[in-house]
Amino acid sequence: MTVTVFVAGTGTEVGKTYCAAQVLRRLRRRGLRVAARKPTQSFAPGQGPTDAEVLGAASGEHPDVVCPPAHTFEVPMAPPMAAEALGRPAPTLAGLLAAATAPPEVALTLVEGAGGPRSPIAADADNVALAAALRPQRVLLVADAGLGTINAVRLSCEALGEVSPAPPLVVLNRFSPTDGLHARNRDWLARDGLEVHIDVESVASVLADVAES
Ligand SMILES: Nc1ncnc2c1ncn2[C@@H]1O[C@H](COP(=O)(O)OP(=O)(O)OP(=O)(O)O)[C@@H](O)[C@H]1O
Ligand SMILES: [Mg+2]
Repeated sequence: MTVTVFVAGTGTEVGKTYCAAQVLRRLRRRGLRVAARKPTQSFAPGQGPTDAEVLGAASGEHPDVVCPPAHTFEVPMAPPMAAEALGRPAPTLAGLLAAATAPPEVALTLVEGAGGPRSPIAADADNVALAAALRPQRVLLVADAGLGTINAVRLSCEALGEVSPAPPLVVLNRFSPTDGLHARNRDWLARDGLEVHIDVESVASVLADVAES
């Protein structure tokens, strides 16, 4: 049975897709069968690859498998708002759950949300509601490493606290070992009892162990 990991972020643009793609590549190099799912996406057209394209390139899947075209909205707003603006049907929680499904032979599926924990993702769900319905074995919370991250991580962990049996794995994206604030942020969050990572390699290592256990 596939292990499901929900990739949440403290907000938009923190690096959910970037980190997920890096982790997927590392897991594949270890010989694991992986899948990526972005159950719905919205973006400004003409500004680089979509999340589904980035994730699919990393997992070895077609972007339309990663995110169905019916759930893809070319307007940079939360998906149900973008759908409304385009006069198209907004995705529903049931539709997103169907889109998050991967073949049973896959060892690990990374499912990326959209925006932050309380950002709307369907007509009837925010990211926390989607994550809870997915019942993931783990949540990977991607955060920035700099100013404001303690508040953002604490609030996100509070919101996501009940969705998986284990506490979220936190990764401080764009962490610089020579930045004193980054190091202090890591230490303070670790004192909360959180598992804090500062690189994708160690995240991949933990997730490989979860998938193989
Ligand atoms: N550690 C990093 N090093 C270099 N570039 C990065 C890093 N993390 C993120 N980026 C770049 O920053 C931008 C935003 O990252 P990304 O798209 O992963 O954010 P996101 O949280 O998935 O955003 P969204 O909420 O839109 O899904 C992208 O262009 C990405 O390539
Ligand atoms: Mg993304």
